[in-house]
Amino acid sequence: MRLAILLSGRGSNFAAIHDAIAGGKLEAEIVCVISNRADAAGVERAKEWGLDAHVIENRAFASRPAHEYEVLRVLERAKPDFIALAGYMRLLSSEFVAKYPNRILNIHPSLLPAFPGVDAQKQAIDYGVRVSGCTVHFVDENLDAGPIIVQRAVEVRDGDDAGSLAARILEQEHLAYVEALVKLATKQFRVEGRRVIWS
Ligand code: GRF
Repeated sequence: MRLAILLSGRGSNFAAIHDAIAGGKLEAEIVCVISNRADAAGVERAKEWGLDAHVIENRAFASRPAHEYEVLRVLERAKPDFIALAGYMRLLSSEFVAKYPNRILNIHPSLLPAFPGVDAQKQAIDYGVRVSGCTVHFVDENLDAGPIIVQRAVEVRDGDDAGSLAARILEQEHLAYVEALVKLATKQFRVEGRRVIWS
C-alpha cells in the first residue's frame, strides 16, 4: 500500500502509522508527507525518518485552488493508493476529493456524526455525553461526513475536561488509524450508500 500523509501539526497519528509500518504491523510505504505549515512538528519527523517531505504553505498561494493544484501535483508524482489526513487543518475542495474517491481518509476525535468540526472533545464535554471516541472515515465533499471505516469508543469520566478527554481519545486514535489502514491493506471493500462493506 502506497500511502501519502497530509498534516498541519504535531503529527502523532502520522508517527503511529510510521511506527506500525516499522514494527511490521502494517504493510505499507509512506511515499510522501505534505504539510501546509512550515512549523509543523510532523514534517520535521518526516525529514528525520528520511521520508519524502514537502512543505506547501497555503498562505504562500493566492487562492485555495492554486494551493490544491500544487498539493495534487506532488501527490500525482507520488502515486499513493491512499491519502491519510492526519491533523490536516484544511478543507479539501470537491474537485480534490473527486480525484481520489474513497481513497482519502481522515481521523476525527469524536464518534461521528456527533460533534463534527473543531474542538470536538470540548463539544463532547460541554454536551455532557458519557461516551465519546474517534472515527476514521473516508473523506467526501462535506466536513467530517464520509463513510465510516473504524470507530473506537472512549468513556467520559467524572472530572474530565477537554484536555484529559482529548489525551485518552488520542491513544485510541493511534490504534484506530492503524486498524483502518491494516483493513484497507488486507481486505477488499466496496461502499454502498454510507456503508463500507468488507469482503
Ligand atoms: C487529532 O486529534 C485528530 O483527530 C484531529 O487532529 C488531531 C491531530 O493530532 N483531526 P496529531 O497531529 O496526529 O497529533
